[in-house]
Amino acid sequence: MNYTHMEYFEELLKRESLFKDEGKLDINYIPSDLPHRDKELSILSQLFLGLITNPNSISRRILITGKTGIGKTVTVKLFGSIIEGVSRKRGINIKYAHVNCRKERTSYKVLIRLIQLLDHQFPKRGYSSQDLLDILIEFLHRYNIHILVVLDELSYLINKHEDLIYSLTRINDDNFKGEQRLSIIGIVRDLSCLNNLDNSTMSTLQRNILKFKNYTESQIFDILKYRSDDSLKKNILSDKMIKMISEITASSGDIRHGLNIIWRSCKIAESKNLKYVNAECVRLGNQDLLPYSTLDVLEYMNSQKLSFLLAIIKALNNHDNIKVSFNEALKRYYMICENLGLKPRSNSQLWNYLQEFKRDNLLTTNIISEKIKGRRAIIAIPDLSLPNLERNAIEILNSKGFKL
Ligand SMILES: Nc1ncnc2c1ncn2[C@@H]1O[C@H](COP(=O)(O)OP(=O)(O)OP(=O)(O)O)[C@@H](O)[C@H]1O
Ligand SMILES: [Mg+2]
Repeated sequence: MNYTHMEYFEELLKRESLFKDEGKLDINYIPSDLPHRDKELSILSQLFLGLITNPNSISRRILITGKTGIGKTVTVKLFGSIIEGVSRKRGINIKYAHVNCRKERTSYKVLIRLIQLLDHQFPKRGYSSQDLLDILIEFLHRYNIHILVVLDELSYLINKHEDLIYSLTRINDDNFKGEQRLSIIGIVRDLSCLNNLDNSTMSTLQRNILKFKNYTESQIFDILKYRSDDSLKKNILSDKMIKMISEITASSGDIRHGLNIIWRSCKIAESKNLKYVNAECVRLGNQDLLPYSTLDVLEYMNSQKLSFLLAIIKALNNHDNIKVSFNEALKRYYMICENLGLKPRSNSQLWNYLQEFKRDNLLTTNIISEKIKGRRAIIAIPDLSLPNLERNAIEILNSKGFKL
């Protein structure tokens, strides 16, 4: 064993960490307070008050919209734990069920998820969607539950022309003899993705829209200050540094970006044996960061789709081009497939991928011809760092066992 390494390790252990609780900077952590979302929380309380004052006689459907990273998910989750707590105290059985439709993309998967929240042992397969609806109804009845279903990132479901929302809203009317046992909160970034819904579903959801406004830079400062007080020891991150991070965060408005920079700059300060974070640590912490939302999208992509994205990135990189055509990307894609031993997907599947990339804000397209034969599009990635994107895509493919 190398003695100096051991010494080094020992020394690391002796070093005081700058963090009080690192976990509190995690993207999925739900803080106990949400600065600048009081108004939204109280609107939710007012809207859903009836579920507690008149149990099982009211159902609510609302739609929440707003840009990425501005607290839609976390606000609704915090509200969920509040309403569960308050109702429990009064002996009322309200169950909060958060479903992320990007992870559960079909009606079937959403229904399974809802039932598994009520019954952890429920098997994943062997039912039809109608069976699942019946089982859900039966559960709500038997255990006297009102379920608050949150369909987060709803656009991922809607684009498949699913009629889940319609079926869910119908179960109140059809099954409980006037009792209301299900409420829905839908969350989408922007209303344009609702165009594919049929009219009745549209009108049920769109009657109540709660729009989350973007945070201003000074609100971002307050939020990041609160989050760093919560997670770091005293005097580690000065107001001046928080201000610097807020300015960087304000350009996307995505609080995740700010939280990431805080975490990374503290890690960098620790590695340099500093007692606090300085501007250089923040600068380094901000380097090479892809927005969290992009990383998240990459993580959930299947290997075929990721290979096609990588083909686009490589084509752009190779020509040092600002734009590439769909056909050039295809050529690259076939090369990558051959390398990885993947069977290439059909052109029309790849064309669909392209539309999905666009929806995920990975790239922009200029479509010249939509004809099935001779589809033409010009593709650009204006907002993301290509080397970072490429590195991350390759890392994820590698982690799935594909060696590039
Ligand atoms: N007011 C706030 N106070 C403290 N933390 C916040 C606040 N708003 C957002 N955050 C934090 O910022 C991150 C992003 O918030 P959230 O996940 O709710 O975004 P979102 O609006 O749902 O974005 P997306 O549309 O991309 O899903 C989370 O880690 C969340 O805890
Ligand atoms: Mg969200």
